[in-house]
Amino acid sequence: MDTPIYNYVQKYAAKNGARFHMPGHKGAEILGCESLDITEISGADSLYEADGIIAESEKNAASLFGTAKTLYSAEGSTQCIKAMLYLAVTAEESREKPIVVAARNVHKSFVQAAALLDFEVVWLWDENREFSLCRCEITPEQLENTLKGLDRKPAAVYLTSPDYLGGTADIKALGDVAHNFSVPLLVDNAHGAYLAFLDEPCHPMRLGADICCDSAHKTLPVLTGGAYLHISEKAAPFFRENAKGAMELFGSTSPSYIILQSLDLANKYIAAGYPQKLRACVDKVSRLKRQLKKSGWKVYDSDPLKLTVRASDSGYDGRELAELLRENGIECEYADPDFTVFMFTPENRESDFRALTEFFTGTPARQALKKDILYMKLPEQIISIREAVFSKTERLNAENSAGRILGRTAVSCPPAVPVVVSGEKINEDAVKIFKRYGIKYVDAVL
Ligand SMILES: Cc1ncc(COP(=O)(O)O)c(C=O)c1O
Repeated sequence: MDTPIYNYVQKYAAKNGARFHMPGHKGAEILGCESLDITEISGADSLYEADGIIAESEKNAASLFGTAKTLYSAEGSTQCIKAMLYLAVTAEESREKPIVVAARNVHKSFVQAAALLDFEVVWLWDENREFSLCRCEITPEQLENTLKGLDRKPAAVYLTSPDYLGGTADIKALGDVAHNFSVPLLVDNAHGAYLAFLDEPCHPMRLGADICCDSAHKTLPVLTGGAYLHISEKAAPFFRENAKGAMELFGSTSPSYIILQSLDLANKYIAAGYPQKLRACVDKVSRLKRQLKKSGWKVYDSDPLKLTVRASDSGYDGRELAELLRENGIECEYADPDFTVFMFTPENRESDFRALTEFFTGTPARQALKKDILYMKLPEQIISIREAVFSKTERLNAENSAGRILGRTAVSCPPAVPVVVSGEKINEDAVKIFKRYGIKYVDAVL
């Protein structure tokens, strides 16, 4: 596959000409990659008015992902999430405040979008399930009942899948429900770019999402910040026609050409046998999961490139387990009191797999830890997300915050999933959950 952005920059750097343009390093090798870090000079195209090498490269990505349109982001899914919500809430003209129906396990960029775009959120949440920060399992019936109960049509249904633990939503069934109500389905697929290349593709765009974002940098060999916004053939033409403008609204006017080259090269990497490498990697991860289970470890049912150890059910605090691993030269992606999460790609070496296997077969799983089972009543929304985010606030110890209204959202990062959302009254359940996830301070509205 052609790599027009990469080719252009290689040629330009090889010329070693006089650079009287940004960036200020002028190609001098200080970090080591400056010669490849350029700006929108003649021939280099421009991300938000792309009609040259960037447009060509984005078309290559769209053909690989099988989408009507794929746009690049050099600022992560964070930018794409805001853009897709902007598209949804501006698609139909209405004098009323738009509503977005969202499963509660959103990344904080969703809340930032709600503040910037001033939409109302109807949360999908099951108060009767044990609380877990990253999970929010939604049934089609639950979505249908929520949509039936609304007094006006929402701008979108919004899901996060896979979540940080690797849990996935039934996108096909939930999308069918949303579409029966003529509502578009938006998916935060930040953790699932690779899903398009499995033997049985289960990427949200194949399962019925109208728009979705992928953090290319999370599961593909792409530099941090590289992401895609995908738009489906079936989505309203408005989405395709306005997508670049939406991305521009939330992006820098200086997107990194290093990241754009990395996205460009990923096309070639994917086209040159990535599905085969992925299959081999998925098989190795499945084998590893089976080995852990045989050794007594409890393993969560996750997407194929994640291994999520149910640490507390295996007798360890997840953070304690992460520390033990660190002492053995192994760094996980995420740990909380209950889970320790590992992310794999075909770029992991045999020795990485060996190290993890040796650790888990050589470390005994123990009796499940005794723990308080936490539940979370959905906090009452007192003022809008926008009002709360733009309010004056005071910083409080989280343990003394019950009864106060949250200003800017308090999250531990990762996974950057809010316990309480801006504008909600912090309840006693939330205070216990702050403690469990190590959230020490909150900004309360004055
Ligand atoms: C579920 C989810 N959505 C969105 C994001 C934001 O992605 P990015 O870091 O590419 O901006 C993250 C980041 O970790 C995430 O976990």
